[in-house]
Order: sequence, then structure tokens, then C-alpha cells
Amino acid sequence: GDDSTVSITIVGASGDLAKKKIFPALFALYYEDCLPEHFTIFGYARSKMTDAELRDMVSRTLTCRIDKRENCGEKMEQFLKRCFYHSGNYDSEQNFTELDGKLKEHEAGRVSNRLFYLSIPPNIFVDAVKCASRSASSANGWTRVIVEKPFGRDSDSSAALTRSLKQYLEEEQIFRIDHYLGKELVENLSVLRFSNLIFEPLWSRKYIRNVQLIFSEDFGTEGRGGYFDHYGIIRDIMQNHLLQILALFAMETPVSLDAEDIRNEKVKVLRSMRPIHVDDVVVGQYKGHTRGGQSYPGYTDDKTVPEDSLTPTFAAAALFIDNARWDGVPFLMKAGKALHDRRAEIRVQFRHVPGNLYYRNSGTDPDRATNELVIRVQPDEAIYLKINNKVPGLGMRLDRSNLNLLYKARYAKEIPDAYERLVLDAIEGERRLFIRSDELDAAWSLFTPVLKEIGEKKVIPEYYPYGSRGPVGAHYLAARHNVKWGDVGVDE
Ligand code: BG6
Repeated sequence: GDDSTVSITIVGASGDLAKKKIFPALFALYYEDCLPEHFTIFGYARSKMTDAELRDMVSRTLTCRIDKRENCGEKMEQFLKRCFYHSGNYDSEQNFTELDGKLKEHEAGRVSNRLFYLSIPPNIFVDAVKCASRSASSANGWTRVIVEKPFGRDSDSSAALTRSLKQYLEEEQIFRIDHYLGKELVENLSVLRFSNLIFEPLWSRKYIRNVQLIFSEDFGTEGRGGYFDHYGIIRDIMQNHLLQILALFAMETPVSLDAEDIRNEKVKVLRSMRPIHVDDVVVGQYKGHTRGGQSYPGYTDDKTVPEDSLTPTFAAAALFIDNARWDGVPFLMKAGKALHDRRAEIRVQFRHVPGNLYYRNSGTDPDRATNELVIRVQPDEAIYLKINNKVPGLGMRLDRSNLNLLYKARYAKEIPDAYERLVLDAIEGERRLFIRSDELDAAWSLFTPVLKEIGEKKVIPEYYPYGSRGPVGAHYLAARHNVKWGDVGVDE
């Protein structure tokens, strides 16, 4: 067998992310036989807990895939036996030294590789990294740290965080997660573009009229108001998740699939973006709403949110990439909480067919007949292309139809959660889906000035009812760029 071992320590083991995502992802990897032969999982947090109590907590988070029920219970038992707990403070080198001792026992003299997943609030990132690196680094293998946003709240605070982390870690040891990069259809973007002849030649200002990146959730910030109010939707979703998708969508062909080649291209796109003007951003905030006898709270009804908070829970923005490929093509982003549905999708609206024979003199708006490619990241993953088609029968009537790739119809396999892919990549040292520090800097450089301006001018958000389609301002913004949002109206 393999003579090395991986010790995975989840710092902040009793937190929400750990319970909802990290432990379940580790179990799924174990079930799929993706974890190395020798591995140990440690939960680390302040509260006192025994190994048995941790296992009990973890066991309640684990589920079996629908297509993988057989011997799942048995596998869970085996998995839980590999989970342990150590209680300690996040800023105590002493406590991390104790952890180091326990890890060593389990590693039993093998080459020890160590992965720390920081699932803790950002104000204690640096302390924990310092203690982990000084007192619990591997002596003979690699040591890696997974961190997740918020990476600061603007260019300066992000750069300060990076500097602090780099006092204790090399860039190669830092794995910055943007979990949207772990989503199946986001990863598929490059496959779609670079291994099909029919898309890449169209992928430019010549044929694409606009690109829309849409994120919506049908629930509010309930329970997370304290965190959210300090950041707002632009920092929570746009500066990272949507911008990452944009970068992958718009980048030039990388030299290879190597992580550095891909990330080089992403940085180039980000650095080619036009500064965002405050007029090209619309912000909104949801207010309470009663529908069908049920009342839904407004954002500021949350006790942890100041009553007079102007923090946006919705934003729409028009962005531009000032390079040869994308000159003049609007990239519209829209992100919001407490809207009427939950979805994340990319919409590519193509130009109209010049002098279209079938629409000439028909009175039909040629813009209604353009092709549109939709990549639905979630829910119900799909890729579909809207085409014009003749309605069968005598006469000549045209219809808009979809060439439709619905994942659940095409692939029997359940799609792994983003965190599974990302944790596995971190273990394997595959950095492609993680954010390099210069990428992070470029993303902040783009959004920091406009965020500052919105803050300083105390821009009043447009209020929208919980469960609605969001502020009407988003439509005016799109219209100014001659765009109609594609997610409005019927699609399939
Ligand atoms: C997180 C945001 O990064 O992404 C949350 O902080 C948001 O506000 C979440 O709810 C959405 O992730 P997903 O995978 O459920 O779409």
C-alpha cells in the first residue's frame, strides 16, 4: 500500500459549513473510494467534546446517495471510526501542539500530509493559520490550508489578509475556495467551449450580443444577518462567484489545462475589465411581505441587522471587458436574496440573423428570434440552446424550441457536491479550481471603487417585496444597454 497518510483537520468543526458541507463531502469521497488508504479526520473547535460526541454530531450530517444505498450504513460506521476530535482555542499554539501530538499518533511514522480546513470567522483566520503552521505542520510531507471567503471586504483589507497569511504559508500552501468553481456546470464551461467546434468560433463580440450571469435565492439572510450586513450581495456573490464564472466564460484559450495556465488567462480577463461606474449598478433590499396569509420578514427585521441598514441584498450590474474579443459586449450580472426562485445560470444572447428571410416583413421583432444558449448551473442542471424551428405541418410557421441537454435525463449519476471536488483537489494538490492571490487582487480592484462609492454616497437601495422578481431598476439598467433579461418569461 501507500506509505503516506493524510490528516484532515477541520478547524471550526461544529460550525454550519462543517456540518452542512465539509463532513458530508468527506464521507462522499470516502464512499467513492477517493480518499487515500491512510487518512484521519480531526474536528477542532473550542467546545469540549469527546470523539464519540463528534461522531454522533457528524453522523447526523451524513446521507447516502440515492444511487448508492447498499452498505452505506456500514461505510458510515467505518468512516466515523476515522473521525476524532480535539478541543482547543484558535489562537493557542499550545493547543495546536497537542493536536500535533495526536496527529502523529495516527500517522504512525508514515509520511504525513496535513490539510487544514478553516471553517471559522475571518477575524481568526490569521491566528489559526499561525498556530497550525508553527505547531502542527507536517514534518516530512505537505501542509495545506483551505480558506474560504470573506477574503477581506475591499482591496486593502484583502491584501492585508494575504500578507498576514503569507507570513506563515507559501502561496502554494493556500487553497482559496470559491465553491462555485466546484460546481459541475461551471467546470464544464471550458469543455463546452474548447472541445466543441461549434461554440468557440461564436464566442466573441461578432456573434454574442450580451452575456447574463444570474444568481437568485428564494430565501433571505435569516440567521446570517450579522455576517451579511458587513458584506452585502456584491461582496457575497458578485465579486467572487459570478465574476469567477465570467472569467472562465470570457478567458482566452489557455496554453494547457495546467492550473497556472488557466489562472493566467483568468487574471488577464479580470485585468482587462473596464472600471465599474456607479451608474451601472442597481442595488436593492428586500422588505417584508405578506402573501397567501403567510408573512415573510424584511431584511432589517432581523435582530442582528441595524434597522437603518442600507446593505444591498440585491444588485444588478453592467460590466465590460475592454479587449479585442469582447469590446462593447455587456456582461450583465444580477444577484439577489429573497427573490421568487432559486437559480444560477449563464445566458448567452446571440445577435440576430442579418436580413433574416423568415422574419422580414412579418412584423415580428427580430430580437424575439435570436438564439440563446442557457447554462443552468442549478437547480436541475441543464444546457439548452434556443433555436428557431418550423412548426411541422403545411404552411410556414416558426417556433422557438430548445435543443435541450437535461442532466438528470441524460446522466443517471447524481452530481457530486462542489465541496467534494474541491476537497479532493486540495488533497491531490490540483490548484486549477482555487483562487490565486493575483486573481483575488484583480477581482477586488474591479469592485472596490464602486463599493466605496456606494458606501460613501449612502446609495439608498430600491426596496422589493420578499419573494418578488426584485427591483424594476434592473430592467432599466439592462434596457440602457439594449438588453432584456432572459430569465423573465417562459423558457422551455
Ligand atoms: C455563499 C454565500 O458563498 O454562497 C451565500 O455566502 C449563498 O450567501 C451561497 O447562499 C450560495 O451557494 P449555493 O451553492 O447554495 O448556490
